[in-house]
Amino acid sequence: MKLPAHFDYREDRLHIEQLAVEDIATRFGTPCYVYSKAALLENFASYQDACARFYAHGQTLVCYALKANSNLALIDLLARQGAGFDIVSAGELKRVVSAGGPGVAGRVIFSGVGKSRAEMQYALEQGIRCFNVESVSELHHLNEVAGRCGRRAPVSLRVNPDVDAKTHPYISTGLKENKFGVAFDDARAAYQLARSLPHLDVIGIDCHIGSQLLDDAPLIEALDKLIGLIDQLAAEGIEIHHLDLGGGIGIRYGDEAPGEAPVRVADYLQRVFARIDAWRAARHAGKPLTVMFEPGRSLVGNAGILLTRVEVLKPGSSKNFAVVDAAMNDLMRPAMYEAWHGVAPARPGTGEVRSWDIVGPVCESGDWLARGRELALAEDDLLAILSAGAYGMTMASNYNTRPRAAEVMVDGDQAYLIRERETAEQLFAGERLLPG
Ligand code: LLP
Repeated sequence: MKLPAHFDYREDRLHIEQLAVEDIATRFGTPCYVYSKAALLENFASYQDACARFYAHGQTLVCYALKANSNLALIDLLARQGAGFDIVSAGELKRVVSAGGPGVAGRVIFSGVGKSRAEMQYALEQGIRCFNVESVSELHHLNEVAGRCGRRAPVSLRVNPDVDAKTHPYISTGLKENKFGVAFDDARAAYQLARSLPHLDVIGIDCHIGSQLLDDAPLIEALDKLIGLIDQLAAEGIEIHHLDLGGGIGIRYGDEAPGEAPVRVADYLQRVFARIDAWRAARHAGKPLTVMFEPGRSLVGNAGILLTRVEVLKPGSSKNFAVVDAAMNDLMRPAMYEAWHGVAPARPGTGEVRSWDIVGPVCESGDWLARGRELALAEDDLLAILSAGAYGMTMASNYNTRPRAAEVMVDGDQAYLIRERETAEQLFAGERLLPG
């Protein structure tokens, strides 16, 4: 099995950067999410470097999509690299404001199909860079809230370009039948409306067509549609100052078909910038245009693992189950999308190799993490569920009153606890008995 960068076996022990995962598990317990700082920074650098190489200086912004992993330590690290942030709730904005340093709100864009008025007001007060508005109704709400606060709201319209991202239906967002964005054919009218509302400033255009895209062709198709729209809007006197292509670049999980691999970030960005430069030179009179991205998974997915220990082995006549101490509440992706994650033992087993289903202790048949893996397992063995850095911890729940896992960041030969393991008492601390 090919391990992600910064994970490897040394003297038969699985390491993350310079540390053996066994030592991390002994120190912090399991289940435990562990991230490589080097991997995270390298992934972010692949975006920043391509922006610097292929586009005008100071006219790009890479906004990390916080929903992939919102731990404050990651926000802090990325903010120091100059990242912006793509948020979808007031809660996420609070995280960014508390960890991102001075002025960070000016690098925040607010996505999401159902922002509440309270969330809009909080974001306006923080002075965020832009609201990615998804409906005509939202334009009215935002205009009303901005008017009430005596502010003007910077607005981009999330246009649904109706292109097929060719990914899992649950994470495909750019088709007509999806709930996201303003329909392509309605976009001009929505822009006209936005321009007419007194408390809005129309500044941008955005889209996000889906997640875990291996091929960038649908993204380039969406870009072309947005460029066409910018031309039409310009003819109607509406100037667009930034173009935000969303996130979506996929990562290697390990179950890709032979010859199938995620597009390289640098190649995708180079294609995007080439397209935009050619258009600006030909039709946009060289006017400046800031280009933005909202990557999540491609920054953190392969920077993290979930460490879990085998509690019980249940070999059977039709299936062999290895019940581990992590479950669907810790990593929801297999249960929710039948997602495939690699499984790497902390050290090679010595027993008989069998086909194991790796399952959790939660009372659901859907509670599995991996199926049919050829492994030599014994009870108490430590396993790493790979590529779990994105949409792992952020989607975790407390089902079965299971406290959420600890999170650890490795930097070279040091490991830092970046989130304490929850306690059961914390989970019911807010609950109250009836009087009497
Ligand atoms: N921007 C918007 C508006 C989004 O909705 C998303 C993800 C992103 C950016 C970041 O996309 P990325 O670069 O990570 O592909 N829970 C699912 C993924 C859901 C993605 C939702 N939107 C999973 O575990 O696969």
